[in-house]
Amino acid sequence: MQIKNIGVVGAGIMGSGISQVAASAGYNVILNDIEDKFIDRGLTAIFHSLERMVKKDKITSAEAKTISGRITRSKKLEDLSDVDFVVEAVIEDKTLKQDIFRQLDNICHSEVILSSNTSSISITSLAAVTSRPEKVIGMHFINPVPVMKLIEVIKGLDTSSETVKSVFDLAEIMGKVPVMAEDFPGFVSNRVLQVMINEGIYCLYEGVGTRESIDDIMKMCANHPMGPLELADLIGLDTVLNILNILYEGYGDPKYRPCPLLKKYVEAGLLGRKTGRGFYEYAK
Ligand code: CAA
Repeated sequence: MQIKNIGVVGAGIMGSGISQVAASAGYNVILNDIEDKFIDRGLTAIFHSLERMVKKDKITSAEAKTISGRITRSKKLEDLSDVDFVVEAVIEDKTLKQDIFRQLDNICHSEVILSSNTSSISITSLAAVTSRPEKVIGMHFINPVPVMKLIEVIKGLDTSSETVKSVFDLAEIMGKVPVMAEDFPGFVSNRVLQVMINEGIYCLYEGVGTRESIDDIMKMCANHPMGPLELADLIGLDTVLNILNILYEGYGDPKYRPCPLLKKYVEAGLLGRKTGRGFYEYAK
């Protein structure tokens, strides 16, 4: 099936980034969320990201306009009835994702692939609520989506090899590099990354270092562009906590136990860049 129109469910940091790269690759995108304010925020993020690319002479302002013009807003999942491919990118809540997959299964044509940008929830559990488990797959983009090359592709128990091939082709057209991972909690990226972030937070909690020294040591020790605490702020501390809980429950192994300091920050609503304060402070 030739893909022309892509539905993206969820206009947050990831959904807006995915819409931008899909529209930049020439696809028409329907960007769906439940409230206008979420769609507005997503479209503003796309506008700023495109503006940044214009300033860096990566695209012209006419191209930026064409890319934005390919994105249509939507508040009803039914608007996705004629799309050729779906990427779901709502918050990391299994019940919510399953509910959306159940609805999409009824709304979208039977040959349409339903992918999820989940960073940790079982693809097999999303496939199980649909009548097309062979067409359900994980397509895990990395934040910031316009910049990061990787798409971690996750095959559920019944995902077909045709579906994997279509997603690999689509990823390459979007200028990304697809890499396979099996469907176990956290896949590869978050199973490894979140343990490092959690240990960075434990170092702060136990007074082994300051936020700056922990980040500086890890940047220069491992040649990472960001330290674990800066990166946690970029991802969102609520998302980090959610993923650690999924790893902790999924493997039953204490090595994934979320740091109490992380829980305290989330309870306080200090979620990182998106709220203006996490381990660091950000201008609003
Ligand atoms: N849109 C478009 N372009 C952007 C952008 C955006 N949102 N953000 C950055 N860029 C571009 C910049 O314009 C710049 O382009 P040039 O190289 O042409 O100058 C380039 O990206 C680098 O940006 P900056 O110079 O502003 O800043 P930087 O060099 O510090 O890079 C960064 C910023 C790309 C975010 C870098 O710090 C980085 O790679 N950080 C690590 C990101 C990471 O680890 N992400 C994983 C998150 S985990 C995840 O996503 C998995 C999960 O499930 C939770």
